[in-house]
Amino acid sequence: PRVAVIVVAAGSGTRLGVGAPKAFVGIDGGSILRHALDGVFRAPAAQVVVVAPADRVGDALTQAHDAAGDRRDLVTVVAGGETRQASVAAGLAAVWGDVELVLVHDAARALTPPDVFARVVAALDGGADAALPVMPVVDTLKRVDGDRVVEAVDRATLTAAQTPQGFRRTVLAQAYAAATGEFTDDAALVQAAGRAVTTVPGDALAFKITTAADLDRARSLLAPRVI
Ligand code: C5P
Repeated sequence: PRVAVIVVAAGSGTRLGVGAPKAFVGIDGGSILRHALDGVFRAPAAQVVVVAPADRVGDALTQAHDAAGDRRDLVTVVAGGETRQASVAAGLAAVWGDVELVLVHDAARALTPPDVFARVVAALDGGADAALPVMPVVDTLKRVDGDRVVEAVDRATLTAAQTPQGFRRTVLAQAYAAATGEFTDDAALVQAAGRAVTTVPGDALAFKITTAADLDRARSLLAPRVI
């Protein structure tokens, strides 16, 4: 396939406080990882590289095969690293064949609609080197120094970054090869390598499951509705 999706699922999930790697926590009958993979496989055929904690590679492969159905040949699972960036690098090393576009997606954004993937791919097909789904910032923001407010920040010039973040494969590979230091997302890493990043609209459903309250929200969104 022309597109690869790297699903990073190797985080510990400390902030969720459930004592298991976050991606393997159940939302309903399915785990966070399984829901993320269902979303990935709803999009047109892509190579899928799952990055899992080293001791969960087998479990991740089972879940990925279940989600892939008759597309299981497209699935690879590799072990992640200490940081998200190391996990993405491990995933990138496992991309094979003549893939042109690489999307990097947080498993923790388990409910991301397929439309977001489509918008990212469309921006890359339109010529962008890098495409980032973003959401408007709703809170009023302040720059602080300790507990003192320094200034108000104009939120009109700010956005919140989501995933999947998409890149030309060569651009992402070169940026990773050149990276010094840690970046919180791949768009920042690619921007540090001097590449322009284009935004596309994100989706509220692409929120990242980080805290117990986020998990509750995901559970209620998936719960059958009683009218
Ligand atoms: O911790 P946080 O929620 O910001 O992590 C974002 C995504 O990166 C999660 O899906 C997590 O599993 C993944 N991750 C990873 N390897 C790490 C840290 C985070 O794959 N070492």
